[in-house]
Amino acid sequence: MEKYYVSYNRIHSIMKDLAEQVTASGFEPDYIVAIGTGGFIPARMLKTNINRPILTVGIAYYDLNDNLMDHPHIIQWIDDADAKLKGRKILLVDEVDDSRATIGYCLDTLLTHEPEEIAVVVVHNKDKEKRGAIPPQVTKYFAGETMEDKWICYPWDADDIYEHDRNC
Ligand code: G4P
Ligand code: MG
Repeated sequence: MEKYYVSYNRIHSIMKDLAEQVTASGFEPDYIVAIGTGGFIPARMLKTNINRPILTVGIAYYDLNDNLMDHPHIIQWIDDADAKLKGRKILLVDEVDDSRATIGYCLDTLLTHEPEEIAVVVVHNKDKEKRGAIPPQVTKYFAGETMEDKWICYPWDADDIYEHDRNC
């Protein structure tokens, strides 16, 4: 699959644009929820412009032997989630909306805690057939870039960041 290299600076700039779009939409989150691990650094960049506490969640599609499971599994969730999330506004952040299976599963699980509203922010959305769905209760969705189905090389996966940047 064709590769698409993205730099830290590019992601930083995209997160600033996304923060402005979220703010312009009138959405004022109580919490940012980052899906690990790809959502961690984008969520922190977003916090520079939308200064809310970041809660982190872990969802795995592969087991410890790297075998694909039939559906995503929660490996880390939010302490006292009902108390924190009920009636609150949540901004969910991930790096890529690919098959949408993980994001869809995460949104379904967040909705069980009865938040007032959830908005989704992703750095990249791949324009492809999705296996998961954004539940209809989630009406705000912001993608930094919508792109063809290429393999995105994120800077945090780089062994040599200078070499990575030369490919961007
Ligand atoms: P989605 O709901 O966000 O679309 O996720 P999906 O289940 O389709 O993706 C499974 C894993 O594959 C996710 O990581 C996702 O970040 C990763 N992924 C999908 N497309 C790309 C890509 O083009 N480049 C890179 N680098 N990763 C991609 P994960 O297994 O949940 O973990 P993590 O990598 O975020 O820690
Ligand atoms: Mg991810």
